[in-house]
Amino acid sequence: MLVLSRFSGSPAPRAAFPATRLRRVRATDWSRRLVRETTLSVDDLIWPLFVMDGSGEQPVGSLPGVNRLGETDIVATAKRAVDLGIPAIALFPATDPKLKTEDAAEAFNPDNLVCRVTRQIKDAVGDSLGVILDVALDPYSSHGQDGLVRDGQVINDETVDVLCQQAIVQAAAGCDIIAPSDMMDGRIGAIRTALDEAGHSGVQIMSYAAKYASAFYGPFRDAVGSAASLGAADKKTYQQSPAQSDEAIAEVALDIAEGADSVMVKPGMPYLDIVARVKETFGVPTFAYQVSGEYAMLRGAADAGWLNGDAVILESLLSFKRAGADGVLTYFAADAAELLHRV
Ligand code: PBG
Repeated sequence: MLVLSRFSGSPAPRAAFPATRLRRVRATDWSRRLVRETTLSVDDLIWPLFVMDGSGEQPVGSLPGVNRLGETDIVATAKRAVDLGIPAIALFPATDPKLKTEDAAEAFNPDNLVCRVTRQIKDAVGDSLGVILDVALDPYSSHGQDGLVRDGQVINDETVDVLCQQAIVQAAAGCDIIAPSDMMDGRIGAIRTALDEAGHSGVQIMSYAAKYASAFYGPFRDAVGSAASLGAADKKTYQQSPAQSDEAIAEVALDIAEGADSVMVKPGMPYLDIVARVKETFGVPTFAYQVSGEYAMLRGAADAGWLNGDAVILESLLSFKRAGADGVLTYFAADAAELLHRV
């Protein structure tokens, strides 16, 4: 029997109104704090960062407040994450379009942008910060797909071989958690074996296990430059249909059986039902990704003065915890950490 964070017995018999007044425990701040079931802490945050060649910062139009960071300046941001107490960052490359090819070979270049940046960060901050790298080909492919394309189809098994090579160079650069976001079948087991054989048995795998073909990834694709490569194409032959729930359970079951250390549900807020089901069914470390489109909606509305930004940041992140997530990937990580340190 799994021990869950939430009460799962039979409901206690309550006296009828007026003996029971549910407002009684809500009446004061101290009482609300005392009965609180769910908490959000800085330890729950993973901060996704976009990196680019060179120096400086470049704003991402569809992600107000989020910049691509030059590789010579990224260490300062990693140190800021450490100072804020954020446990881990996830790095995504805006690859020079000249390096994007049909076979996405830059993905397994041991000296590619994310590998260079990971080495720098690990040299500077060591084990005070976890570094997570995506495994998928979209930042490196001229067609913008996460896998290799043959005759117009994203081909599974050959892609998995390339993903294994990508995972190995990333682990060799010092990456702590390999996060396959490609949704190919069988990749978790293959990557686990490849990492172990290459001497990286201590490197974790966080599987993007239930990843949906979502329109909420739009701003991310602007940030890494894959939107233009993808054009009118979509990822529906490998990412899940938003209509599916049981299929997410099947995906997670397989990834755990293949050796995933933790699993992720993505997007986040529109998929909290999946987060809750996954946590209740498997009881493994479960993460949710508050993706770029979710960030853009909240940030945009806050910037327009339509929502209270600080309040919706904390409320949205708390809702992930309430659904059962152990942590959240969020572009609000630094803002949230500052807000949490303030209270
Ligand atoms: C790449 C990848 C994507 C995201 C994370 N890794 C985009 C996609 O699958 O098209 C989306 C993250 C976000 O929207 O914030 N496979």
